[in-house]
Amino acid sequence: MTDPSAHSAALTYGSYLALDELLAAQRPRSEEHDELLFIVVHQVYELWFKQLLHELTWLQERLHRGEGGHALATLKRVLTILKTVVAQVDVIETMTPRQFTAFRSRLEAASGFQSAQFRVLEATLGRRDERMLAPYPPDGPGHARIAAAMAAPSLFDSLLRYLATQGFATPAAPEPRPAGWRQPSEAVQRVLLDVYRADGEPALVCERFVDLDEGVQEWRYRHVKMVERTIGDKPGTGGSAGAQYLRSTLFTPAFPDLWAVRGAL
Ligand code: HEM
Repeated sequence: MTDPSAHSAALTYGSYLALDELLAAQRPRSEEHDELLFIVVHQVYELWFKQLLHELTWLQERLHRGEGGHALATLKRVLTILKTVVAQVDVIETMTPRQFTAFRSRLEAASGFQSAQFRVLEATLGRRDERMLAPYPPDGPGHARIAAAMAAPSLFDSLLRYLATQGFATPAAPEPRPAGWRQPSEAVQRVLLDVYRADGEPALVCERFVDLDEGVQEWRYRHVKMVERTIGDKPGTGGSAGAQYLRSTLFTPAFPDLWAVRGAL
């Protein structure tokens, strides 16, 4: 048996989790007490974004293989993370406008607007918007990752592929894809109505996609309210009009066909 007290290069809790690096990665730019919370909350979000993207890649593979049961299990995990991520807004909302203003200038032009993982998430959800590449150097990893996600099948494309494996006659996606978020399609809606009428596992998968879409929209809403209560109508550090810009991103579904059919069910 290994001697647990041996001081070799044995794996430890700290080395396995790279805690030296992780816990050295909070570098406040001011002496203000609340800046650490601001940094930690953002870093935790980026870790969850990483995990979400990891799970969504897995989900797409399961869907392409027609594995509905495994897709449902992965969707449950994704949705549980999303709930956690939305609830975390409560933590940053404990910071008052005055506490934030005390160090905000130290952020310079840094903003969540530059989160490459968030843009990859949006692209995976189906957003095709070259303008989102602008903040990233063309030869950098962020640019390449977002561009690759925009060129890859979106989650809804993967859902349609899964439905095809289950015997539903899904229409081919239009090429080239229009810019922006996915537009509703009557041909797709006809298939979805068949799926819901059949009321089997594919209908359950569709319902979890609705949860996903609603969850992302919920995060956007909570973020806008957090921004409104913390900086009011001030412009964003990322150069946008702030809350006014963020309000323009609300209520845009990633999977419009799943919403469109509901009145006919
Ligand atoms: C006090 C807290 C926060 C404030 C005041 C704030 C403010 C803003 C503002 C004003 C924008 C618009 C872009 C700009 O001009 O900067 C923005 C965008 C964004 N923020 Fe925050 N934010 C806060 C916390 C967070 C947190 C905790 C996250 C988690 C990652 C986050 C992620 C994002 C993302 C992803 C965008 C881009 C949204 C889009 O373009 O649709 N923000 N934020």
